[in-house]
Amino acid sequence: MSETLTLTRAARLIGVTRAELQKKIQCGEMISHDGTVTVGNLLACYPDAQLEDDAETRRIAQIKERAFGKRVFERALPEPEVLAARITELSTTLAGSQSQVKQFNALLGKLWDKLAEIETRADAGSRTTLEDLKTWIKQEVELATEPGFINPLAIKDNVLRVITAQVTVLPSKQDFLVEGHDTLLEAAMRAGIPLNYGCSGGNCGLCKAKVVSGQVKKTRLHDFVISEAEKDQGYVLLCSNTAVSDVVIEAAVADSVQDIPFQQITAHVKAMGHISDDMILLHLQTPRTQRLRFLAGQSVTLRVGQSFSAELPIASCPCDDRNVLFHIHRQSGNLFSDYVFDRLKDHEAVEMEGPHGEFILHEKSPRPLYFFAFDSGFAPIKSLIEHALSLEAENIHLHWFGSARQNIYLPNIAHAWQDALDNFHYEEHVAGFDLRTVSGKREESLLAQLGEITGADADLLQSDVYIAGPQDAVVIAERYFLDKGLPKTRVAVASVK
Ligand code: FES
Repeated sequence: MSETLTLTRAARLIGVTRAELQKKIQCGEMISHDGTVTVGNLLACYPDAQLEDDAETRRIAQIKERAFGKRVFERALPEPEVLAARITELSTTLAGSQSQVKQFNALLGKLWDKLAEIETRADAGSRTTLEDLKTWIKQEVELATEPGFINPLAIKDNVLRVITAQVTVLPSKQDFLVEGHDTLLEAAMRAGIPLNYGCSGGNCGLCKAKVVSGQVKKTRLHDFVISEAEKDQGYVLLCSNTAVSDVVIEAAVADSVQDIPFQQITAHVKAMGHISDDMILLHLQTPRTQRLRFLAGQSVTLRVGQSFSAELPIASCPCDDRNVLFHIHRQSGNLFSDYVFDRLKDHEAVEMEGPHGEFILHEKSPRPLYFFAFDSGFAPIKSLIEHALSLEAENIHLHWFGSARQNIYLPNIAHAWQDALDNFHYEEHVAGFDLRTVSGKREESLLAQLGEITGADADLLQSDVYIAGPQDAVVIAERYFLDKGLPKTRVAVASVK
């Protein structure tokens, strides 16, 4: 350890007085250079000192944590160059503010002189008024310059402006923050904003967008898919640039399934495991340069082995387009599910085609969101909820119906959402019969359960409702809400086998 310390800091670190250290230096017991000591020399004199357990250091860390919030320190920092550019911008603002403060101080001095000059010529009555005015000005200046006047939120905001940059997308007016080493595209996807893109690798040009204001920086050297003329007009690749300052861009945002192209991708099994006796969680990973573009709630066709295929809802969020999750239900006699349960191996290739389906979130709706998942209908519901959470939806309710208790196969995820979020409400319901076959008494029972939920929650009939699960249960639930007066445009349904 060759770090050098001032005597004051060294004394504090080991809990002795500065004078004691000076005595040791004078009598030759400790070596000092220009009023500093090395940590090594200090430890040689005080071998029992616990430098890492320094109370002062901990106190400072606590103050920092309180001032800026833990989350700020947990964020990944951007590249040094980006950090330097942001600090330079903030320093420029600071220098401007300092110069303004100087000018105001000079102005205050002049005002003071002027008042004194007027006072010499004023009669007794006006002098009293002038005195009052001077007292008031003094008090106001003192108030404005006392240390407590500095707004801690302003400090936090400045720190955040160094760590993150804000991006506004036109014409949709959506915005998101860029943190750490994220590209503009990655940050937008994390925020649930589906910008146009293709390869994510700077090769296809589909993520081309125009920078209207602010400064961006390349994270990938090549951008040959943009012509020089386009570059002159401010076009950049969102997958190959990050934000240095706050930025405004013009870019298309996909808001309907027609905006998403049909794709064919060979993915590989990244992991798979049982989440219940008859349910497997399959994690596929796409190649880095060919990710799956989809909207939350959509499905794809998976093809395994000798062309055994099935259309399955995606159980993950489009914010992670390389890692795509599926909940595969064992269905006896179904060649696809038999293959997945009995023969599919880690790293094996799986063909993906799609996406399909229109079971997507109405993102612009301000209404509360109610999700009804029946058995494995939780898969597309999970994708929608994760997307809604990225968009910071304000009011989310999930009702998960299982044919039996074990059909509510990932309750921990829903409980974790509920524990972590004030705006998330979760309830489980066990139907007590197979939700794939619902008629007669079973139908009455399901309707009664839906009635209890609706009766206890007046908001429900003013909301957007999303229902997914086996066909029978979905049809009954959809009809129930339509009969209750919800318009068809506010009830979205998806059948899941
Ligand atoms: S997504 Fe292909 S170039 Fe950016």
